[in-house]
Amino acid sequence: MNETAPLAEESAPVYPMPRVSPVDPPPPLAELRAGKAASRVTLWDGSQVWLVTSHAGVKAVLGDRRFTAVTSAPGFPMLTRISQLVRAKPASASFIRMDDPEHSRLRSMLTRDFLARRAEALRPAVRELLDEMLAKLVTGERPVDLVAGLAIPVPSRVITLLFGAGDDRREFIESRSAILVDRGYTPDQVAAARDELDGYLRELVEERLADPGDDLISRLVLDQVRPGKLSIDEMVPMCRLLLVAGHGTTTSQAGLGLLSLITDPGLTEALAEDPGLMPKMVEELLRFHSIVQNGLARAATEDVELDDVVIRAGEGVVLSLSAANRDEQIFPDPDRLDPHRDARRHFAFGHGMHQCLGQWLARVELEEIYAAVLRWMPGARLAIPFEELEFRHEVSSYGLGSLPVTW
Ligand code: HEM
Repeated sequence: MNETAPLAEESAPVYPMPRVSPVDPPPPLAELRAGKAASRVTLWDGSQVWLVTSHAGVKAVLGDRRFTAVTSAPGFPMLTRISQLVRAKPASASFIRMDDPEHSRLRSMLTRDFLARRAEALRPAVRELLDEMLAKLVTGERPVDLVAGLAIPVPSRVITLLFGAGDDRREFIESRSAILVDRGYTPDQVAAARDELDGYLRELVEERLADPGDDLISRLVLDQVRPGKLSIDEMVPMCRLLLVAGHGTTTSQAGLGLLSLITDPGLTEALAEDPGLMPKMVEELLRFHSIVQNGLARAATEDVELDDVVIRAGEGVVLSLSAANRDEQIFPDPDRLDPHRDARRHFAFGHGMHQCLGQWLARVELEEIYAAVLRWMPGARLAIPFEELEFRHEVSSYGLGSLPVTW
């Protein structure tokens, strides 16, 4: 293994760069994409890593097992202070931060529950939930905040439905999960929220062990824990991952997608003409907003050539999903939201072995949320000027603080 430290480049720009437009990635990303396969950037802690911005480059790195997702690996980029916390307590890491074979062993226990047809089977329940929520929202006062009213509660109700967790613990789950993905909190606050969440999940797992029901936790307990294939210590971080990964992400994407739908008449007209366009629209909105705004982190475990750049073993790499999803080589006129575009090659859900496990569920939730708002609030429009919207930059999933609408 090559242990030589890379030469620090004094000119390496600070990453992440600030946005100029709230719905577009920072402009320097497009300039970097036009240059080398990877560029040096400086992170908040002063460390330098490689940044990959092209579609081809992101695909190559995420599909290459010489790059590790283990945060304690030498050179692993610490995108936030909170990533340091994960590194400090690797025992409680979930499989998103593991390599194979451990990663596949744990992930494969869940794949059946997250197949496209399983997500499809949940669609009627999601629709019913949305109809119930919207029926209440439309009879209340206007404007309605669609972030607090739908984008936050829908993903959390869907996941608690899967877990068979009581509705009474939903607020607790929502608040603790939010702390885990928000950069506004100190590492101590994050650690405390994670411990509380783990304590709750451990109780839930133990309850199901004693008295299994008909839910995801019970199935894992019966198929994996009881036969000794999965320990409770492994299952708790696995459940935490499902809660956290499916939460802030879907909330952010739902909010930004709704914003586009109610402010861009071309989109609603296209849907009115052809309601069957919704799945395509959801893909395009995923591509366009790419809410995992600062991208994914990996470290090279061997020297790897990436076109004109050699990434040395022990060097960190950040894959900018938002830049790759605006790559004109793959998506012509990439800064345009085009409801007719076939955007399926986007990387909003990542790529390779860690590609989002919950992507089919997320698609069902998003399609149903967008369709329900258009159905229940025809002519929905922003209740405040666009410039007054509050965008949340300090979270790992970029999104809106609130979305006040009237109709
Ligand atoms: C992984 C995005 C919704 C569960 C990922 C990754 C991305 C992502 C980019 C790859 C991380 C990496 O490679 O390091 C999103 C987006 C969502 C969403 C944009 C919504 C719009 C969900 C939902 C769930 C979920 C609803 C489950 C309830 C997971 C899990 C992983 C993951 C378990 C880890 C997979 C692995 O390591 O093998 N997601 N996600 N996600 N996501 Fe999602």
